[in-house]
Amino acid sequence: MAGIFWWVVFPYMMLTILIVGLLYRFTFNQVSWTAPSTELLEKKWLRIGSPLFHWGIVFAFIGHLMGVLIPISFYRGIGVSDHMYHVLAILGGGIAGLMVLAGLIILLIRRLTVKRLRTQSSTGDYVSVLFVLIVSALGVYMTIIYNTTVIAYEYRTTIGPWFRSLFYFQPKYELMTTVPFVFQLHIVVAFLLFASIPFTSLVHMFSFPARYPTRAPIQYRSRIGYRRQSERDK
Ligand code: HEM
Repeated sequence: MAGIFWWVVFPYMMLTILIVGLLYRFTFNQVSWTAPSTELLEKKWLRIGSPLFHWGIVFAFIGHLMGVLIPISFYRGIGVSDHMYHVLAILGGGIAGLMVLAGLIILLIRRLTVKRLRTQSSTGDYVSVLFVLIVSALGVYMTIIYNTTVIAYEYRTTIGPWFRSLFYFQPKYELMTTVPFVFQLHIVVAFLLFASIPFTSLVHMFSFPARYPTRAPIQYRSRIGYRRQSERDK
């Protein structure tokens, strides 16, 4: 019974909140659909923490596509042995995860210690940083510590097929009941994070065209090192 709740009801509930919440905010409060820049309040640490975090998350996202969405049969079919996969996953995922964590910690300390920034921060800002921090810290623990000290856990035969089964509406919840607790926790908190997105500045991840990684933090003034919008569009 608990298995059905956590691995069927709960994920669909969180995804429903995500989708309905995004549609609601897009329809009724589109003007707030952004992550307000704090560059004018503090620049030095932002320019270190923000790219570290964002590039780390891009690499970790690609890692999730490779580990959770691509079936194990594909890797075996193209001759990637399970051992080879895990070595690469620990190295690549480990570096990506450490970038995410380092960036997040820099951004959080910056938010807490720069007074002007602290007074401008909302509860939502802290909620999103905390959620991402907990999910990422668990991910890094799983990738670097659990995999090397306990067992290189084969999530491609449990978490992967379960996650994919959610999208064709026949959830194989029984696959999740034997998964180690720390992996289960990572996923449950990740779904809570998904549900929180429409209520925080994390909505900016769905903005398109996705120029966030390369654009100037503030759009309406040019800066050394950033090309002007008109030049970029040529
Ligand atoms: C329901 C969605 C998710 C699933 C099924 C999932 C699953 C996983 C798995 C299987 C790993 C690999 C652990 C290992 O190598 O042994 C992992 C690692 C990790 N996860 Fe997630 N995860 C999810 C969502 C997220 C989210 C939303 C974030 C970030 C906010 C995140 C951040 C990380 C990080 C930083 C790592 C370590 C680096 C890496 O391997 O990419 N995960 N996750």
